[in-house]
Amino acid sequence: MTPEERDRLVLRLYDNLLDIEQRLIPTGLHVFGRPPGDAEAADMLRMVASFDRPEFGVRSLPGLVARGLGLPAYEVLLAESGSSEYRLAQRERVEAVVRLAIERFLTGGGEGAARLLAGEANVPVDESLAIFRLLGTIREQLRENGELDALVRAMNGEYIEPGPGADIVQNPGILPTGRNTHAVNPYGIPSAVAFRRAEAVTASLLNRFLQERGRYPEAIGMVLWGMDNIKTQGEGVAQALRLIGVEPRRDGMNRVSDIEVVPLDRLGRPRIDVVMTVSGIFRDLFAQTMELLDRAVRKVAAMDEPPEMNFVRKHAEAGAREDLAFDDAAARVFSNSPGSYGTNVDVMVADGQWDGADEIGKLFVTRKCFAYGRSLEGREARALMESALSRVEVTYQNVDSAEVGITDVDHYFEYLGGLTKAVQNRTGERPDVYLSDSLAPLGKVRSLEELVRLETRTKTLNPKWYEGMLKHGFRGVAEIERRVANTFGWSATAGAVDDWIYDEIASTYFLDEAMFERLRSLNVHSARSLAARLIEAEGRGFWAADEAVSQRLRSLFADLEDQLEGLAR
Ligand code: BEZ
Ligand code: MG
Repeated sequence: MTPEERDRLVLRLYDNLLDIEQRLIPTGLHVFGRPPGDAEAADMLRMVASFDRPEFGVRSLPGLVARGLGLPAYEVLLAESGSSEYRLAQRERVEAVVRLAIERFLTGGGEGAARLLAGEANVPVDESLAIFRLLGTIREQLRENGELDALVRAMNGEYIEPGPGADIVQNPGILPTGRNTHAVNPYGIPSAVAFRRAEAVTASLLNRFLQERGRYPEAIGMVLWGMDNIKTQGEGVAQALRLIGVEPRRDGMNRVSDIEVVPLDRLGRPRIDVVMTVSGIFRDLFAQTMELLDRAVRKVAAMDEPPEMNFVRKHAEAGAREDLAFDDAAARVFSNSPGSYGTNVDVMVADGQWDGADEIGKLFVTRKCFAYGRSLEGREARALMESALSRVEVTYQNVDSAEVGITDVDHYFEYLGGLTKAVQNRTGERPDVYLSDSLAPLGKVRSLEELVRLETRTKTLNPKWYEGMLKHGFRGVAEIERRVANTFGWSATAGAVDDWIYDEIASTYFLDEAMFERLRSLNVHSARSLAARLIEAEGRGFWAADEAVSQRLRSLFADLEDQLEGLAR
């Protein structure tokens, strides 16, 4: 390695560390009815302040500080800090001032913080006061927790005021909590903002593949959920439309009534074929959006364009040569049969109910092979789905929340993992798997492996996270066990978990005797399941465990079994 290469590597490492440091890490469970503590509130405010809020006429704090200091835009600093030490220093300077300002705000209020910003970074007081007023309102509303009261009123059959559903960073309008969640107007999907935001994400996704493979992916398998598209006003939908190369057309009442095909010379790249697997909730909430997506695909499939610039058409024609009707060969919107929900992949994996490598993918297709749009109405269409999946090179899902990640719940591996396995069954090759971080500036996209590592470092192996959980006693141990089970889900469905992750989990929770004793005394059931999961990971070949570690785990597992059966302790 040359000195320059070494320096670049160190810089990239440092940039990764910043990424880890700056992630919002929930440090405990939400206790119903209890407002967040000061430290947690400060983290949330910092995150909220890091976004432009045109709806409140507010610029982001890092944006204001970068401008005040006469530096390039904060987005530029972020984009270039991984490859330029100079930009990294500027980025850190901005972030240090922002941190200081938030601290001052929390101890001395908005005026003091605004004065500090004027002095440290020439930020005009009226501009920073606007954002501190917003933060002040949020802070007040965070204290005003109406959850218990609303629960009691709901149980009395009284009316509960509705509010939007989102996370705080996305939409501070969700506060105060303790209200009913209202959905969106499905005719407003995707919103103009969602469509704009989807541009950076789809560009990142395609560029990433382009960089790694030297060409565009021909087909992407995508997961669309209902709640996410409510929370983001349809970002996932907007991403699908952009990949295909179309845009929504709005009628006089601003309802999305149709789509318009973006001409190839304006698109500047091929149209990507998108196979959409949508949740049952999405299907129920967004019937006309499914129609719209299906119409978009069929319109594009019918365009007279060269196959190398229109993969939708190319694949529909290939499907038609395989004995499908052309129209059927362009079916791309799949979900459960009407009235049914979920993939059951989560259950299959949790219970270890699979033997053959292809069972998970088969189950996914069995559950999701019902075609929607046009007049299909959920007709069973296994052959159509399998034909569409056989061309997929990338699977992808939009992650819309800073709070719930891909190892926090089993639904991500159930859907995106299930889809990935289904593709692998057809192509014999695991597709590249990507997730976007739609809240990050620049539409950041990560590979599945990168995101599993990041969440493992920021949560599973982070004392700040697990001590936060263990404060909750019995439930906290269950949360740790659940997170490891969800991580295992990514081994089962996508082979996406490195050995070191299991090594470190074993050493953190089992080889550390004091920690093991804590787990065992707080919740012996979850401690046993956790050990069983690691042993299963090794048994299924997902983890090449050190022999001594493996034996130690088995012996601790036997101890836990004895304890549960009342044979010891
Ligand atoms: C949904 O919002 O569509 C959804 C969320 C979690 C799991 C499955 C579906
Ligand atoms: Mg479930």
